[in-house]
Order: sequence, then structure tokens, then C-alpha cells
Amino acid sequence: MTLNKQVKLAKRPVGMPDENTWTLESSELPAVGEGQMLIKNHFISLDPAMRGWMNDVRSYIPPVQIGEVMRAGSIGEVIESKHPKFKVGDVVSGWGGVQQYSLTDGQGYYSVDASLAPMPTYIGTLGMPGMTAYFGILEVGKIKEGETVLVSGGAGAVGSVVGQIAKIKGCKVVGIAGGPEKCKYMKEELGFDGVIDYKNENIHAGIKRELPKGIDVYFDNVGGEILDAALARINMKARIVICGAISQYNNKENVTGPSNYLALLVNRASMTGMVVMDYAQDYGKAAMEMGMWMAQGKLKSKEDVYEGIDNFYDTFKRLFSGEKMGKLVLKVLED
Ligand SMILES: NC(=O)c1ccc[n+]([C@@H]2O[C@H](COP(=O)([O-])OP(=O)(O)OC[C@H]3O[C@@H](n4cnc5c(N)ncnc54)[C@H](OP(=O)(O)O)[C@@H]3O)[C@@H](O)[C@H]2O)c1
Repeated sequence: MTLNKQVKLAKRPVGMPDENTWTLESSELPAVGEGQMLIKNHFISLDPAMRGWMNDVRSYIPPVQIGEVMRAGSIGEVIESKHPKFKVGDVVSGWGGVQQYSLTDGQGYYSVDASLAPMPTYIGTLGMPGMTAYFGILEVGKIKEGETVLVSGGAGAVGSVVGQIAKIKGCKVVGIAGGPEKCKYMKEELGFDGVIDYKNENIHAGIKRELPKGIDVYFDNVGGEILDAALARINMKARIVICGAISQYNNKENVTGPSNYLALLVNRASMTGMVVMDYAQDYGKAAMEMGMWMAQGKLKSKEDVYEGIDNFYDTFKRLFSGEKMGKLVLKVLED
């Protein structure tokens, strides 16, 4: 009998989740009903947003309920189908959750061509984080050739793509990340013009050194002190893209907002929040363009793949410790 291992939310964490936040359970595979399909999940996507989905608050998506399978993006193979659009053998991506098999009516799922890119890339650069970078920097950041772009979380899934797209569009790009290895990666592999190691140098001094003429677009993945430091050096008509604020996600108290916000007034600048799902109708077009950049060697994709659904918690923690390079992925099933 095949069992489905599932990670379920056991309690709402206060601060950083611990090993008791989730339970690992096994259950029999469910029967496939009319209009449904059963997917064998190969990889799941580990995203900082998962921390927010555990909070019982109003957001852009309902919270995961206690006892439910933890929400996660996934990619896998259809092994049984009574769905008109998907057939056995299709490789599909969607919200499969932290489990080895998913039964679904197909809502939110789409097929991918696994011969064109490895599966983890479809939940990284060619998936949700890549789409976030693409629409965030182009549609919200509205970058123009010759502008200066600062991106935090610059070695991560979203930030690494943001910086590379800005380079493709002719901008000067400076990335912020923690540690010399990530800074070397941003400079030597991703081709960023400048780097700032926020764990080992003063962030204000780093921004002043790398961007002496100021910031035209700041793509914010981390919030907190780094957002404030960026605000202090924005140019006239600067755009700040609020994509995320990982430094605040495990705060036990309230989120700390920027104190330098009057820089927006002085510089007639804007700060705009974005949610990638708003661009869902255009994902296909963006994926085509990004796929072309990848084929031309202009856009690099890096995934850091860990193995075993039993290791979900230890792998999840890496999002916040920073102990990973590029997109964090968990392989949940053996081949
Ligand atoms: N708005 C949207 O639609 C949308 C969609 C996707 C993602 N996001 C957001 O985008 C951001 C990046 O997501 P991602 O998937 O690309 O994650 P990621 O950058 O691949 O991983 C998280 C990284 O954040 C850094 N980090 C952790 N704690 C930090 C802190 N206290 N201060 C500064 N940096 C810290 C770590 O890198 P270092 O080693 O450099 O510290 C870590 O590797 C997140 O805030 C996420 O919530 C938003």
C-alpha cells in the first residue's frame, strides 16, 4: 500500500516556528473522483511567505488552518486522472502542499515542459519567485536604462532574478546579501555591479559607497533597517517596490515600519506593494521571455535542493538563517 506523507500545521507559531509547529502524518492515497487528478509531487517550493500564511490574520490569501496540510507550491507528475485537461504523465505545477501526493480538481495547476528545464527551475526562476521578480521590477519598479537599482535579498530566489533582469535592461545593479559567499556569487556569477554584505559591514556606508549618485529603484525583500537605509539615499522620483519584509516575519511584536518615510515626500518618490498573483494572466508571456534569456545565457537560475519530507522543518529554517543559495527546494519523493 502506498502511503502519502503529509506535513500539517499543528499550531500557530509566535515568533520563529519550532519543531512542534507541524506534524508529519501518513495516510492512504485517496480515490480519484470525476474531474480530479492525483499528482505525485517531486519537489515543493519553500518560500518565506509560508511564515505569513500561518498567522490568523487578514491577508492576500486565507491562512492555513490548524490540521491542514501546509500550503506550498509544488511540481510533480500526474499518476491518475479523471480530469478533462490533464492526463497521466503530464508534469504539472500548482499548490500541492507539503505532501508527497496531492488530489486536486486542477484549480491553479498548469502543465510544464519538463524537457526544457529541470523541475526545480519551474518552481524557481520560471515559477512564482521568477514571476515576482519580473513583474515587480518591470511593472512596479518601471526601470529604465541607465538607472541605479538596489535589491535586498539579492542572492535569493526573487532578488537574484530582479538584479539580472535589471542588468539585461541596462541598469546599474547593487545587491545586498549576508556573507562573503553570497556577495561573490552576486558579483561574479550574476554580474551585479556592486555588492553589500549587510552581515559584515555598515549598511548605510555600503549604500553610500556603491551608489554615490543615489538610488532610482529599490526592490525590497527584507524591510526593517535595510529599508530605512535605502530610503535615506533615494533620488528624485525614485520607486520603491515592497515585495517582502523577511526581517520582520518572525517578530513577536508588531512589524517595525520605516522611520525615514518622509524621504518619499522630499523626493516625490513612491513606495508600492506588489503581490505576484495579480499578474497571473501574464505568467505565460513572462516565462517565455525569461526562458529565452536563460537560453541566451543572460539569466542564470540556481536552486538549492534538499531531500526528504521528514527534513521539512530543518530545510524551512534555512530561509531565515540564510543557509542556502538561490531558490530553496525540497525533494519530497524518491525517483
Ligand atoms: N509580494 C509577492 O508577491 C512575493 C512573492 C514571492 C516572494 N516575496 C517575498 O520576497 C522576499 C524574498 O523571497 P525569496 O523567495 O526570494 O526568498 P530568498 O531570498 O530566496 O530567501 C530568503 C533570504 O532572506 C534573507 N534573510 C533572512 N532573514 C533576513 C533578515 N533578517 N534580514 C535580511 N535578510 C534576511 C536570507 O538571505 P541572506 O543570507 O542574504 O540574509 C535568505 O536566504 C521575501 O520577503 C518574500 O516574502 C513576495
